[in-house]
Amino acid sequence: MVKLRAIFSGISQTYSVDGYSFETAIIKQQVVGTVQVTDTGIVGNQVANHKNAVYAYCSENYAYWNRELDLATPWQCGSIGENLSLQGLDESQLRIGDFLQIGPVLLQVSGCRAPCENFLWRVAQPLSFLAKFQSSGRTGFYLEVISTGLIEAGMLVQHIACQHDSITVPELARFLMQPQAEAQELDRLIAIPGMGQQMLSALVAARNLQIEKALVQRNRWNGWKNFVVSDIVSETEQIKSFYLSPAVPGEQVAGYRAGQFLSCRLTLPNGKQISRCWSISSYDENLQRYRISVKREELGEASSYLHQQLQIGMQIEVMAPSGYFTLKRGEVAVPVVLISAGIGITPMLSMLKAHLARLDKRLPTLYFIHSTQNKVTHAFRQEVDTLVAAHAQLHTHYIHTQPSLDSLLGVDFDSDQRLSSQCIESVMADLGCWFAEKWISLGPADCQYYLCGPDSFQRDVMRMLEQLGVAPHAIFHESFDAKRMSLSELQLADASVRFQQSDSSAHWSQSSDMSLLELAESSGLSPNFSCRNGHCGVCRSTLLQGEVIYPRAPAISLAAGEVLLCCAIPKGDVTLAI
Ligand code: FES
Repeated sequence: MVKLRAIFSGISQTYSVDGYSFETAIIKQQVVGTVQVTDTGIVGNQVANHKNAVYAYCSENYAYWNRELDLATPWQCGSIGENLSLQGLDESQLRIGDFLQIGPVLLQVSGCRAPCENFLWRVAQPLSFLAKFQSSGRTGFYLEVISTGLIEAGMLVQHIACQHDSITVPELARFLMQPQAEAQELDRLIAIPGMGQQMLSALVAARNLQIEKALVQRNRWNGWKNFVVSDIVSETEQIKSFYLSPAVPGEQVAGYRAGQFLSCRLTLPNGKQISRCWSISSYDENLQRYRISVKREELGEASSYLHQQLQIGMQIEVMAPSGYFTLKRGEVAVPVVLISAGIGITPMLSMLKAHLARLDKRLPTLYFIHSTQNKVTHAFRQEVDTLVAAHAQLHTHYIHTQPSLDSLLGVDFDSDQRLSSQCIESVMADLGCWFAEKWISLGPADCQYYLCGPDSFQRDVMRMLEQLGVAPHAIFHESFDAKRMSLSELQLADASVRFQQSDSSAHWSQSSDMSLLELAESSGLSPNFSCRNGHCGVCRSTLLQGEVIYPRAPAISLAAGEVLLCCAIPKGDVTLAI
């Protein structure tokens, strides 16, 4: 016989430990008498981090933990923040989708508890206890409210088993601990009716990550490879898109993560070769071809060549996609905010489309805030608007800093004011997400942010996000100025740098603030380069003598004796092969 032994309710409060503040509703008080259960759980009970309706724990588990942990002050019902303390039941009897009937109230088992650090604080246990708790299977379980009504301690609980394929609560808890889950098993769990939104988010995120990992490993190649320009589209007066297909007909391109770039090597009419990298500006899991979109720069050798001389049918050399500024689709679904300026729109297009390719039943909301001068410079407007029209979860906010005279506010653009934290907040006024079939309101601090644009723009936006309480780990951006920031912290002696093949030398000093690539260029050499920030490997050279250091670690691995010129500086005298 299963009984409702006690009912607990708590309010969300802020606590402070060693100067670190956090909010939790884990401390609960026992409720005496009848309690109303509504769609959102027990009336008067608040949730802080876990937005599930009801959390239940089997009271017999306390005897187990008191023995196992040899606790001086034994835990008792309510100690770990449950709403319902149940007697005569254990988790291994319960499967996701099962029902518990307590008087008029019908509850459905929707997931196991995935403990967090607030839980550790509450039970005064070390970090290692998280794994111990979860692997024990004695995690308790979350319940969704199917029928509302009044309940009271002492009532009988009827367990109604679901009739479909499912998984027990302890099995699910242990499954979630696996670093590498089987794709087939993930698909099975995702399809289980009654699986709660929190669990589902974790499972879908793991599956998204698997798909992405498999995709990015497909068709990769080393070094340069020929690609044919299969189409060229003028996006604005200044921006053209170039579609690149493998030179071998029928071949697929390599997989990539949204936000990655291509290093391209161009051979100019005078025979000179130059390398540059451009973000992939679309997203295609069928791997048919790449699209890069290039703004013509006044003095840009490469962009001028692309705009003026590159024709459909001509070839360029391309390295496999790389870069770490990518959409984190493998994380639990949260609303995404893309903020770009000018040509910074290109990786955003890829991210926006990759977001739409997520497996989630309910796509997390995506806000796209883009700033440009006016409608003449506003690239990809129609492409984005078409996606927005087809997906209710996508929202845009367009800023034209110098609107054209014939532009209409509310039609061509949403604001002519520079981006501000108030603007970001107002764009996301209706922010929320679906959680366990309910709409939960969220704030700016609950989103992930991706920024792309000029360095000053990105820095300004980061300051705005800080004002809105967004944690730094939720902000992703193209790296900028990392070299200068780190260099100032180092104390390095002047050095002599010898370039062997060129039979020349140069003097390096810390005050010159130059990478070896910049030093070589200032000495009249033209080493290959592309990204200039340690991501593409194009500037790889051989270090014949001496030692170099990297103020910021390169994003690619290097063989012994190799050096990445764009992000290395000499540590004493060195000789390079170039
Ligand atoms: S130029 Fe890309 S790693 Fe140096």
